[in-house]
Amino acid sequence: MSNYHIKSLEEYFNVYRRSIRNPETFWAEVAEEHFLWRKKWDKVLEWDFKEPKIEWFKGAKLNITENCIDRHLVTKADQPAILFEPNNPDEDSIAISYRQLHERVCKMANVLKSKGIQKGDRVVIYMPMIPELAVSLLACARIGAVHSVVFAGFSSSALAARINDCEAKAVMTSDGSFRGAKTIAIKAIVDEALKNCTTVETVLVVNRTGEDVQMQVGRDHWLEPLLDEADSHCDAEIMDAEDPLFILYTSGSTGKPKGMLHTTAGYMVYTAYTFKNVFQYQDEDVYWCTADIGWITGHSYIVYGPLANGATTVMFEGVPSYPDFSRFWEIIEKHKVNQFYTAPTAIRALAKENLDYVTGSDLSSLKVLGTVGEPINEEAWHWYNDHIGDKKSPIVDTWWQTETGGIMISPIPFITPTKPTYATLPLPGIQPVLMDENGNEIFGNQVDGRLCIQFPWPSIARSIWGNHQRYAETYFSAFPGMYFTGDGALRDEVGYYRITGRVDDVIIVSGHNLGTAPIEDAINEHNAVAESAIVGYPHDIKGNALYGYVILKETGENRDRDNLKKEINQVITEHIGPIAKLDKIQFTAGLPKTRSGKIMRRILRKIASNETENLGDISTLLNPEIVDEIIKGKI
Ligand code: WT7
Repeated sequence: MSNYHIKSLEEYFNVYRRSIRNPETFWAEVAEEHFLWRKKWDKVLEWDFKEPKIEWFKGAKLNITENCIDRHLVTKADQPAILFEPNNPDEDSIAISYRQLHERVCKMANVLKSKGIQKGDRVVIYMPMIPELAVSLLACARIGAVHSVVFAGFSSSALAARINDCEAKAVMTSDGSFRGAKTIAIKAIVDEALKNCTTVETVLVVNRTGEDVQMQVGRDHWLEPLLDEADSHCDAEIMDAEDPLFILYTSGSTGKPKGMLHTTAGYMVYTAYTFKNVFQYQDEDVYWCTADIGWITGHSYIVYGPLANGATTVMFEGVPSYPDFSRFWEIIEKHKVNQFYTAPTAIRALAKENLDYVTGSDLSSLKVLGTVGEPINEEAWHWYNDHIGDKKSPIVDTWWQTETGGIMISPIPFITPTKPTYATLPLPGIQPVLMDENGNEIFGNQVDGRLCIQFPWPSIARSIWGNHQRYAETYFSAFPGMYFTGDGALRDEVGYYRITGRVDDVIIVSGHNLGTAPIEDAINEHNAVAESAIVGYPHDIKGNALYGYVILKETGENRDRDNLKKEINQVITEHIGPIAKLDKIQFTAGLPKTRSGKIMRRILRKIASNETENLGDISTLLNPEIVDEIIKGKI
């Protein structure tokens, strides 16, 4: 017990109270204790949610890679920083020590420099889960370039939109990627995207699968020869606390994706602090987060948080079902994983399979289990607790967002009594409040409302790249003076929080955050489609699946419906990626609309979820008669 960072519930409450009464003193103490500062801050916090403006550790100078790598070379040079587990179990795993990571990051940073990349330039990274991906993020951070990782499952047009939005100067990628039994031609997708981009001068390509690729002379370069020649020393660029560290795109409920901008010092302090406490990480533990680095979970809890703590972090290239459903559990046995962090959708999928897949592996190394990305249902929670944790490893149900940068509400393992489906209590420094629709705070317990945070924390996103106005409107206008999360939550009789789901037009499918608007925009590109509306409905494994209501143009009326469905999903795959494909498509003559022309998604959601008894008042609709017709045509 005594090794734990927070040692008792009483200590948690004390720390929490202190962090709320005097946040600046609290975060200054955390920042003082652990990090390497080239210069200390002049002021801990300056903020105004009205503007909105948030600045942490203003005046401080640092480089995050000195904190994530160089600092550990004194005591941990030979300890694995990254354990790479390849897609194919017959291929050897690779341990990259802190010393080797230092060398690889410096070399990569020098390659970037040799291609003219400087502090402040944006570099888009579109790569599978191979060590070079983590190295690329760190290499950008080393020289002060702003990385923007795009999940390598996104389509070429989604990639192009992100490259253009941040005006990237370079793209880092690989020839292909291994995913289960499949190989995906990654570089070809980049080539396709770049036909519509003008800012990219350099493309750096890792050789992973060995497949044929086209290299555009002058623009495209294989990384290996450049890395071989590169100097293994690279001074870290000294950054201001509030200099941008990265942009990461997340879906919005309207329009194009939002490039969430995270800055340097606050992000580092918060992800490091939360990593240590939420996983109760101890020296020499092996920690594994199964997320992809294309999402915020991978940024904060595969790369920056663990490395800032000198941890050993596992990176897995493959999928849970390859070569069979025992893969996760075999990896836990192989690397003697102590902390395991995954998504409810993966748990639900694996829980459907024969238990023999689990019992064949020795899981006794496990100490802490985590989940993230969506609400975990009771059944999945118990399966995880009973069969993976053997009822001994506490489950930390961690609630947070791309925008929050780090975990916000979560149990502290061994300290906070867990309760299935509850993320439980706010971490130190986090001040959640529940608001009603009229903008009043809901006090007391056993209540539910819209989840807001009423005070800044160090890793909150500072802006939306190129669109501060949208940042202000999306997060700070619904409830003036507060950050609005977009989630609904309830608070139980002891003050535990349970996140009930999105209250806006974002749908979480298999833990992926998808906005309805971009999907509808994509479908509407199809030449037979006049209009569409997407809603989510409950799904056993994915949590939510997508249901599309589509109105055809007259010219589409005679087309074969099954073909149209395929084509619509094809258009979505091209514009966004396969993760946004619709499970069900219903063709309809109209959509329920208010008199002002707004689609009543509430009604469509209920129909898709088979909750047609209680549709609420539909008399105010412009076209109430369409509701019956849609119910009759339900798939
Ligand atoms: C949305 C954020 C945070 C990294 C992965 C997703 C949902 C996240 C939980 C949880 C219930 C959760 C919320 C949130 N969500 N964690 N433990 N319980 N819901 O990041 O793509 O920015 O999505 O995911 O709805 O707002 P993201």
